[in-house]
Amino acid sequence: MSTFDLVIRGGTVITATDAVPGDVGIKDGVVTAVGRGLAGGATTVDADGMLVMPGGVDSHVHLDQPPVGAQMCDNFDTGTASAAAGGTTTIISFAWQTKGSSLAAAVEDYHAKAKRARVDYAFHLTITDPTTTVLKEELPRLVAEGNRSIKVFMTYDGVRVDDAGVIRILAEARRNRALVCVHAEHHDLLAWLTEQLVEAGLTAPKYHPWAKPMVVEREAVNRIVALAEALDVPIQVFHVSGAESGAEIERAQQRGLKVWAETCAHYLVLTADDLDRPGMEGAKFVFGPPARTKADQEALWSYIRRGVIGVVSSDHSPTRFDATGKKIAGENAPFHKIPNGIPGLAARLPVLFTEGVSKGRIDAPTFVRLVSTNPAKLFGLHPRKGTIAVGSDADIVIFDPNKSVTLTNASMHHGGDFTPYEGYRTQGYPVATYVRGTLVFDGRAVVGEPGHGRYLARDVYGEIAPLGRFTSPFNPVDGALAR
Ligand code: URP
Ligand code: ZN
Ligand code: ZN
Repeated sequence: MSTFDLVIRGGTVITATDAVPGDVGIKDGVVTAVGRGLAGGATTVDADGMLVMPGGVDSHVHLDQPPVGAQMCDNFDTGTASAAAGGTTTIISFAWQTKGSSLAAAVEDYHAKAKRARVDYAFHLTITDPTTTVLKEELPRLVAEGNRSIKVFMTYDGVRVDDAGVIRILAEARRNRALVCVHAEHHDLLAWLTEQLVEAGLTAPKYHPWAKPMVVEREAVNRIVALAEALDVPIQVFHVSGAESGAEIERAQQRGLKVWAETCAHYLVLTADDLDRPGMEGAKFVFGPPARTKADQEALWSYIRRGVIGVVSSDHSPTRFDATGKKIAGENAPFHKIPNGIPGLAARLPVLFTEGVSKGRIDAPTFVRLVSTNPAKLFGLHPRKGTIAVGSDADIVIFDPNKSVTLTNASMHHGGDFTPYEGYRTQGYPVATYVRGTLVFDGRAVVGEPGHGRYLARDVYGEIAPLGRFTSPFNPVDGALAR
């Protein structure tokens, strides 16, 4: 019997801290050796000249959700095919409560939907209706079952939760030990600005960022940080889009708060100018918060280098560029009737590597931290996921740092009909992706089977422990004097 089922030989193994020449030995889906001159593989793959990295962990992926504006065009089958093609081996998707319905039923529903996944997955609990039953009866059980993160929206009609609801969710998150992830935009302000723009006849896609200027996001980030501080709850701020929101995060971290943040690949390469393409082309760049300026991009890189922003996700949120999706309200629909969201799962690693490592903004270990190790740690999946170490799942991407690919919709391997990265030229591309030692992408085709993916239940972990520090001598969550 062979010592290893698979040996990946002769590459440079990249982890969160190191870039070291070596081989990786895999047995029964787990890394069992990292070293030099490993022999005894039933299969050996030559990785000479390649980077051997932990598979991507994408902690912000929308699949098969009920429409917020339009039907999503990726389910767990097509969406995770796209993940595999982009070197991502774990996704955290959303179990999405619809208003008036049970959260527990939503989780059950998503377990059934995710049976077709090709890569491993966990769920954030999206709470849109924080009733007493949901918070006091359903949530404790769902968190204990391994769903250790909650998502709240401060905007979007039909899903948003007002401040009173957010506070009650934060309190239950603290009691049950779950990380709260937040979409932070000032709903009433952006709604009013939208009204004024529409009344003035300014309705083309390029006016979408005008309805959501930076202050809309900055104020909401400031507010959620304050609420989380008052209740002593760790939070992850989703999709920080530019300088001013990043500054709010940095200030919170400087005060010692457990406030973390992600940005997304699209904020690093797209700008508000992309919304000004001819006709409805700009609709391909409608997402929230909106794309901003080159200066914001440079600020985001600075936050990344300083560790203020620790995760780069895709916020994969795909609809088609037709009457089921971006054009659901017609060919020349006003910007506020164009569904928010873009696909991005397959592009995340190649685009970030190109912009980051190939252009000299970050080194390869920093890249691995951003796309894999940090999200794995933040969401309680490490060290099973997010690293290459003895005992870790053999989730590996072999990445050619010199491979140049012009991105097209076909290369995304998703269910959609467009990519906002059409024509983007990469320097660096995945040539093989393995999930627990099984090849799921061979550099050209997705070869992983639907159903190969497994659900990842998450236990209590260090990051979600509260600080034990309140803004008054009273601990309002437990109704006791704070220590
Ligand atoms: O525009 C976006 N980001 N749509 C997806 C849902 C969300 O806000 O995360
Ligand atoms: Zn969001
Ligand atoms: Zn999202």
